[in-house]
Amino acid sequence: MQRLIVNARLVNEGREFEGDLRIRDGRIEAIGSGLSAREGETVTDAAGAWLLPGMIDDQVHFREPGLTAKGDIASESAAAVAGGLTSFMDMPNTRPPTLDAQALADKYAMAAGRAWGNYGFYLGASNDNLDAVRTLDPKTAPGIKVFMGASTGNMLVDDPEVLDGIFREAPTPIITHCEDTPTIDALQAEYVARYGEDIPPECHPDIRSREACLKSTELAIALARRHGTRLHVLHISTADELRLFEAGPIEGKRITAETCVHFLHFARPDYARLGHQIKCNPAIKDEADREALIRAVAEDVIDVLATDHAPHTWDEKQNPYTRAPSGLPLVQYALVSALEHVHAGRFDVARVVHKFAHAPALLFDVAERGFLREGYWADLVLVRQDDPFTVRREDVLSKCGWSPFEGTTFRSRVAATFVNGELAWDGSGLVGAPRGQRLTFAR
Ligand code: DOR
Repeated sequence: MQRLIVNARLVNEGREFEGDLRIRDGRIEAIGSGLSAREGETVTDAAGAWLLPGMIDDQVHFREPGLTAKGDIASESAAAVAGGLTSFMDMPNTRPPTLDAQALADKYAMAAGRAWGNYGFYLGASNDNLDAVRTLDPKTAPGIKVFMGASTGNMLVDDPEVLDGIFREAPTPIITHCEDTPTIDALQAEYVARYGEDIPPECHPDIRSREACLKSTELAIALARRHGTRLHVLHISTADELRLFEAGPIEGKRITAETCVHFLHFARPDYARLGHQIKCNPAIKDEADREALIRAVAEDVIDVLATDHAPHTWDEKQNPYTRAPSGLPLVQYALVSALEHVHAGRFDVARVVHKFAHAPALLFDVAERGFLREGYWADLVLVRQDDPFTVRREDVLSKCGWSPFEGTTFRSRVAATFVNGELAWDGSGLVGAPRGQRLTFAR
């Protein structure tokens, strides 16, 4: 398959420039200007649209195996590709959880031929799988996920000796969910005593408190400093935690920070409208946190942008607070939601590309993806600016069938997504068949 994309605004490695891009045999053959079409080549006139490397989402819960009423690899990767996300790294809190090499191999087998995007799977840590952590082949997983706070699935690691061992011996980057569980349990007990199980949703950030986040993130950083671990702290949700991280380029950092699109979009006042739709762990906090996180992206304190896409069914979300699960579907509108900050003048499009494509590729040593470079795989997104659309429930591709963004108008839209050189999304529907490949890690 040969394709020539002409008249695009390419955005890559800090630059934005007019140009053309040729795809051949799944890869980017040439980037230039005035490239002329060859015989048999399909020509796409991008007419000024942004041409970006496909986003790499390093934090998704696609629910397979075992939780497939909420989502599965096929449905959620389709939603991701519709949103311009061409690679994903999936979390281990499935049923069974991904706690050893066999469970990891099973997941790769499940994804083959069914994933619309390229895929990697994390190994999970537990209080009793230190051997599996120590002996992990670093080419088989982007990293090791440590729940240093309990969330969906029962994967809390709270044995101090085991935690120390994981940080000492992990052969890959460690990614952490940081929320101190005893702090949260004590706060939740207070709220249950006051309200019973029907706690108002806007109390979620007071139960899943900023103190809980700060305490756990401090512990993770202390452990990483003690052992020289490559640590990546996921989904930072508070201004308070930001002072624990250094500003600067991701290259050379041993400790990095991530936030997610929903923490840049929603804040406490939104609970009144959306209730449990935006209940997630860690919790969406105050307007001041949202502001500080946007600034931290602009100032390189936050290194990576991701989704924490975590679908639950609509029915599950209707339960009272104590039984309503945490997590929200995000992949389909994640990129356009991040681009709203570009339209609002908070940072430029090159920064979105850096945080959502280049940075995860660098952090996890992803081979030949995440950049517009000749010879790299042609994972690409065409985005039309100033082409507003409003999210409707009937357009949601996630299996759960709802979105916290319903009714929201975004100013840009994903006009096309290419995965491994093939058109997978044409702006209104999926095209062809799933063509995701297993991610490889150059380490
Ligand atoms: O809100 C969340 N949902 N946070 C997590 O850590 C897990 C996730 C899920 O799997 O539902």
